[in-house]
Amino acid sequence: MNLLTIAEHDAAAIGQMLDLAETAEKPLSGKGVALLFEKPSARTRHSMEMAVASLGGHPISVRADEVGVGSRESPEDIARTLACYHSIVAARVKNHALLETFADAITGTPVVNMLSDRAHPLQALADLLTMKQVRESVAGAKIAYVGDGNNVARSLAVGASLLGAEFRCASPEGYELSADILAFPGVKQLRDPAVAVRDADFVYTDVWVSMGQDSETEARKAVFRPYQVDEALMAKAARNAAFLHCLPAIRGEEVTAGVIDGPQSAVWKQAENRYHAARGALAWLLGVRP
Ligand code: CP
Ligand code: NVA
Repeated sequence: MNLLTIAEHDAAAIGQMLDLAETAEKPLSGKGVALLFEKPSARTRHSMEMAVASLGGHPISVRADEVGVGSRESPEDIARTLACYHSIVAARVKNHALLETFADAITGTPVVNMLSDRAHPLQALADLLTMKQVRESVAGAKIAYVGDGNNVARSLAVGASLLGAEFRCASPEGYELSADILAFPGVKQLRDPAVAVRDADFVYTDVWVSMGQDSETEARKAVFRPYQVDEALMAKAARNAAFLHCLPAIRGEEVTAGVIDGPQSAVWKQAENRYHAARGALAWLLGVRP
């Protein structure tokens, strides 16, 4: 079993990973977990390293350029090498296909996506855990995502659908969720943020310019300007709606400081939950069940 996307799992598996977030013991005792990064990270690296340590294992983080993926050695041979020493291989990659190459090369060792251009499943698990804590149940929740139909939106949309929530994504033309994600029950693509947030329990956004999109910065800033989550937009959501953001955030772009630092913001609960969600996901991949 791997965790490359949320979509490759069913509702029962996702529920078990969330249940294990609080209860897993030491299934990694004496084992290693490789964490390979092609892009920067604060939350993912630290939450994963601490999750591995808390499960009894030993994490080894390396930047991809130290390993020379595809230059010093083929991706397949790097995956096979890491699998000699580690019980799980996790990677943050520019192209999702590299994760699939790793997974195909080491079928007996779980591969975990720590963010790709297509998906961010560990983030979605932490988001769902946060929603469970804030609202008790994700089922029936109305989630409004305002902005780019990107990796974060895609994974959360699928997770929300599997757990019975409604996911409304408001995006400008050309930045919508793709058809494979819109095929999931309860996932809707809208244009107008004000319509998406109406009565929403959660209002979520992410950066307008994701890592690796720097050449598109000016164009994206212009297109996404009407998609800022500000106090006026939050006021259109349900009373006491929670504001969520995967972080890192740019105050004054996708969200105002008043919202992300205000009383409705749950972003630090969400960041902490990256650790708990990572514990649940890793334990589940090692065969632990609640
Ligand atoms: N949310 C998230 O994945 O943060 P990092 O990029 O800092 O890991
Ligand atoms: N969409 C962002 C998420 C960062 C956690 C990116 O890919 O850079």
